[in-house]
Amino acid sequence: MILVTGGAGFIGSNFVLQWIATQGEPVVNLDKLTYAGNRRNLAAIDGNAKHHFVRGDIGDAALVGSLLREHQPRAVINFAAESHVDRSIHGPRDFVETNVLGTFGLLESVRGYWNTLPAESQQTFRFLHVSTDEVYGTLAPDDKPFTEQNRYEPNSPYAATKAASDHLVRAYHHTFGLPVLTTNCSNNYGPFQFPEKLIPLIIHNALAGKPLPIYGDGRQVRDWLFVADHCTAIARVLEAGAVGEVYNIGGWNEMANIDVVRVICAILDGARPRADGRSYAEQITHVADRPGHDRRYAIDSSRIHRELGWKPAETFDSGIRKTVSWYLEHDAWVRDVTSGAYREWIDAQYGAG
Ligand code: NAD
Ligand code: TYD
Repeated sequence: MILVTGGAGFIGSNFVLQWIATQGEPVVNLDKLTYAGNRRNLAAIDGNAKHHFVRGDIGDAALVGSLLREHQPRAVINFAAESHVDRSIHGPRDFVETNVLGTFGLLESVRGYWNTLPAESQQTFRFLHVSTDEVYGTLAPDDKPFTEQNRYEPNSPYAATKAASDHLVRAYHHTFGLPVLTTNCSNNYGPFQFPEKLIPLIIHNALAGKPLPIYGDGRQVRDWLFVADHCTAIARVLEAGAVGEVYNIGGWNEMANIDVVRVICAILDGARPRADGRSYAEQITHVADRPGHDRRYAIDSSRIHRELGWKPAETFDSGIRKTVSWYLEHDAWVRDVTSGAYREWIDAQYGAG
């Protein structure tokens, strides 16, 4: 079996659902259920004997140690993190605690367990750390996309704490021999993404008749990947990745934020027209820019394609249509996650009213 951390969050829950549907291998799912974690993401596998959910912190050595001893996983996949750049600007401490100290605690627990395994199981064991392209910093318009050789130049507290966790993972391989793999992926979108991130926030605000906030000029570029494609890439790296290596994962799909928002508005104009017949694009509002806002991310994912044969199944057009449809069909999920703490965050970030 495998142990997944952060499997009630956006990417983790997509991964667990895909894994249970395609692999048939049991999963222990350890998640702290912060504001970003949601048991309802896993409703489709409630009662499934192959899924065992445990609420807890990756840094809790007693809990993680006992889970490892009890379930004897052949692999640990670490999704657990604080993941939102804007929140890391308002309150970086949680990011240091989970992304740096939490990952450190998890690595220590896993190292302790791994040391007890017979030599053959030690060799086949894997610790796969899920990270981000944001560790590489920002690109100028003509720069080449990030390869695995790019220097780490993190610019936000989020990116800095993810970079620190990547370095710890690397060090546990070089120093202690722990068989690690690291993936650095571009911006994901798809079902179950918390509506603090650009794409679900825009869908949610559009339908609610609220402004669609564009930071600065909206010409910042991100490389967007449909979440199911990220999940197949992780499964492939776990299966065949070379120990100690890093794999960049991206969709070869660079887009400026304003263009992403316009595409969403156009899809909604067709799927759920506004009562007044006008376009959702009229709700677009330029707001103050994010401090230290990275201008451009782009991923060169030729290594994972060349060495492991992975490529994304979705184009941006097909993925964004699936995503908008999912949010239209799951208004109860959105209502559930946009109460209470969500409203406090939106008021703090965008102003009340
Ligand atoms: P998310 O915020 O939606 O989910 C994070 C999950 O981790 C939540 O379920 C939360 O409850 C859990 N968690 C947080 N702190 C924890 C702790 N101390 N112990 C146990 N569980 C804890 O994030 P996401 O977007 O699903 O991202 C998952 C991973 O992928 C993160 O490591 C992130 O850095 C990385 N990543 C995300 C993207 C993206 O576009 N979202 C892109 C590349 C990489
Ligand atoms: P986000 O989804 O927060 O991901 P990240 O910061 O990790 O790339 O933001 C994606 C882009 O959209 C980023 O350039 C910031 C921008 N953005 C807005 O313009 N308005 C918003 O309300 C949000 C949340 C993001």
